[in-house]
Amino acid sequence: MIDKKILKDKFANYFGEGKPRFFTAPGRINIIGEHTDYNGGYVLPGAVDKAISMAIRPNGTQLVNLISIDHDDAALFFRIGGPQPKEQWASYFFGVIEEMRQRGANVGGFDAVFGGDVPLGAGMSSSAALESCVGTALNALFDLKFSKQELAKIGQMTEHHYIGVRCGIMDQFASIFGQKGHVVRLDCRSLMFDLVPFKPKGIEIVLIDTMVKHTLASSEYNVRRAQCEEGVAVIKKYRPEVELLRDVTMEELEAHHAEMDPMSFKRCAFVINENKRLMAACAAMEKGDFVEVGKQIYATHDGLSQEYGVSCPELDFIVDIAREHKDVLGARMMGGGFGGCVIALVKKEGVADYIADVKEKYMVKFDKDPRVIEVEISDGAREI
Ligand code: GLA
Repeated sequence: MIDKKILKDKFANYFGEGKPRFFTAPGRINIIGEHTDYNGGYVLPGAVDKAISMAIRPNGTQLVNLISIDHDDAALFFRIGGPQPKEQWASYFFGVIEEMRQRGANVGGFDAVFGGDVPLGAGMSSSAALESCVGTALNALFDLKFSKQELAKIGQMTEHHYIGVRCGIMDQFASIFGQKGHVVRLDCRSLMFDLVPFKPKGIEIVLIDTMVKHTLASSEYNVRRAQCEEGVAVIKKYRPEVELLRDVTMEELEAHHAEMDPMSFKRCAFVINENKRLMAACAAMEKGDFVEVGKQIYATHDGLSQEYGVSCPELDFIVDIAREHKDVLGARMMGGGFGGCVIALVKKEGVADYIADVKEKYMVKFDKDPRVIEVEISDGAREI
C-alpha cells in the first residue's frame, strides 16, 4: 500500500493545509470461478495487500479536483453534473459520483490525491480498487449511508455505464468485503457470501504477470457475456423462468445444442463446468485437500484457454511450465484474460524453483521478463 505520508505531503502541497481523510481499497485475487459472476454463479476471490489509497477533503464547491500520483501527479478537474472527463482514470470518479447521484445522493465537490500499488493490467482489478476507494470515501465524507453491497454495485455500474465493460460483481465485492486471511465465497445471484479461512499450510499463492496488457480484454469480455446470454435465450424459450446460466444444467444445454450457435454452446458449457469446479474445489478445501483444489485449478485453465477462448500464448506457457513442477499444485490464468497474470498454488519448498524456471524459459521464448507479484490476503476497503 502506498505510504500514507506520501499522500499527506502531496495533499498539503497541492491543496494546502487542513486535514484530509484517508481511505484505501484493495485489488483482488481469485482462487477459482472465472467468468461465472455475470452468469449468476459462484466465485472465490480474496482482497490483497495491494491497494489504491487516497487523501480526500470536501471543498464546499461542485468541483472535483484530482491529482493522480500514478500519472506523474497529473491534475484534472471536472464539475459534478457536467460532461464526463476524457481521461479514463478520472472517469472512475465521475462514474461513481453519477451512479450515487442517480440513487438520490447529494455528493459535493472535493479535492483528492490518490495512487496505489495494484499492478495495472495484471488482472488484479486495479479499476475495482479505485471505484471501491472512491465509493467508500464519498460515502463517509458526505454521510451518504450506502450499504457495502450498494457500494459494490455502484462500482460495477460505473464500469458498465462509464467505462464500457459489462463486468460482473466479483471484483468490487471482493475489494469491499474482503477480510485478512479469508477468501469470499460469493453467490453472485443472491449476493450471499461466506468468508472462508484461507491459510493452506506450507502452500503459497504465487502470481506471475505475463506483462501482456489486455487490449482485447474489454471488447472480447463483452462478446463472451453476450455469447452466454445467447445460450440462455435459447433455454428460455422452453423454460421462461431461466434468467441466468446458473439455472441451466449441462444436460439441458446439451439437449439444445443443435439450436445454438456452436461458439455460444462452447462458452456456456465452460461456465456450467466452471461452477462445478468451484464447488469441487470448495469441498476439497474443507477437507484440506489442496492437491484436489490444484487439479480443479488446472482444469479451469484448460477451460478458459480452450472453451472460453480468453487465454493467450504467454499465459498458457507459464501454466505449462507449472505442470512440470511437482510442487505446483495448480496454476491458471486469473481475471478477465488476454494477458495479466497466472495464479499458482505452490508448496513452499518448490516456489523458488518454479519462479526461476519460468523466468528463464519465458525470457528465451518471449524475450521479456515476467514479473513476480507477492501478495497476502488482506482486508477490504476502509478508512485509514
Ligand atoms: C473481470 C471482471 C469480473 C469477472 C472476471 C472474470 O475481472 O471485472 O467481473 O467477470 O473478469 O472472472
